[in-house]
Amino acid sequence: MKVLVVGGGGREHTLVWKLVQSPRVTEVFCAPGNAGTATIATNLPIADNDIPALLTFARDHNIGLTVVGPEVPLVNGIVDDFEAAGLRIFGPNARAAILEGSKVFTKDLLAKYNIPTAEYHRFTEASSAMAFLDKNTTYPIVIKADGLAAGKGVLISLTRQEAQRGVREMMEDRVFGDAGKEIIIEEFMTGPELSMLCFVDSKTVVPMVSAKDYKRIGEGDTGLNTGGMGAISPNPLYDDELEAYCLKNIIEPTLAGMRLEGRPFKGILYCGIMLTEAGPRVLEYNVRFGDPETQVILPRLTSDLADIFDAVIDDKLADLSIEWDEAASATIVLASQGYPEAYPKGLPISGLDRIKTSVVFHAGTKWVEGEVQTAGGRVLNVTSRAATLAEALKTSYENAMLIEFEGKTIRRDIGS
Ligand code: AMP
Ligand code: GLY
Repeated sequence: MKVLVVGGGGREHTLVWKLVQSPRVTEVFCAPGNAGTATIATNLPIADNDIPALLTFARDHNIGLTVVGPEVPLVNGIVDDFEAAGLRIFGPNARAAILEGSKVFTKDLLAKYNIPTAEYHRFTEASSAMAFLDKNTTYPIVIKADGLAAGKGVLISLTRQEAQRGVREMMEDRVFGDAGKEIIIEEFMTGPELSMLCFVDSKTVVPMVSAKDYKRIGEGDTGLNTGGMGAISPNPLYDDELEAYCLKNIIEPTLAGMRLEGRPFKGILYCGIMLTEAGPRVLEYNVRFGDPETQVILPRLTSDLADIFDAVIDDKLADLSIEWDEAASATIVLASQGYPEAYPKGLPISGLDRIKTSVVFHAGTKWVEGEVQTAGGRVLNVTSRAATLAEALKTSYENAMLIEFEGKTIRRDIGS
């Protein structure tokens, strides 16, 4: 079977790395891919949201399975278009991907089906959002753009002035474009976070091993939100009891609600959860694998990933036994200087050939004249597995020090 992976970050390199291990997979293509996927698959010069070009390629090259990494093509209906063309593709259709595509939809769904989440208010007019802030006395408060904003559409405002500025930027200046046509203002929650990822078909939910993502750029969870500066698996706070609780009170009622709304979900359901004093509450849903969570979760999967994707497409997940390695895993993100704000690109990367005890999943990299160069904010993910989390972290940090590029930025407190 020939497989097409859509996307070009660390998550997609990890998907490609796992899929090439399947004895049933003969060839893997990655669109657009990066310098890492280029070494184990064939990169295609097609953007991850160019659905017509992806479809033409899949049809012309007899692709037996397409796997979509990022949310934008899913929200834009890539699954609908492939299915209409009779092509096999893994992921939710556009009606179901709205769980990530619209925060307003999701908050209303959670409220309707009594699923625990932060209290919220919706606004389509800046003036009414401002009037709400004038009366509100509890800060911090959280402001969210309704639509997709590349992970940047969430503001935690410490004061009324900050919140007012956020509303202006989202609704009047439209810094996130149409994503800010409607906003949510919600209660600020506190507690440790948990990323819970599940394989989902029309009948069955299978949770993956747990993970924890480190979202802030700075050590001690300070500074701006990023796509994720590192991850560990398992999440030390996770146990069977917590998993059962979240399945029963969050994941299953969400999926049941989606069915009742005529939006049955299949693919990967990623639930961001905050473990508050009042119990686990939903922060957000994503309709795809997490990045960098995938980089620590998939190395622990011992089953064939292509078999799992096929089983989901055919609604046969219940027939499969999905096995995981007990070993822990950790990934350290090497980012460009300045990320998540402006950063340089095109800087040479050295030392990749010195890595022996970790696996390096590439994110923002590309080959230029025989040399690997930086090409994004998050550049590399140095990933290790070991009997204990402490050992996995130690190995990843040791290897991360062997790689050099100008302005290399890492958090030294991942896992602590
Ligand atoms: P989201 O994209 O909704 O997951 O938000 C990104 C990050 O913002 C989350 O991982 C949390 O760290 C933080 N966040 C979002 N909503 C809240 C909330 N209601 N209270 C506290 N922190 C939040
Ligand atoms: N690591 C957060 C995300 O994938 O959205």
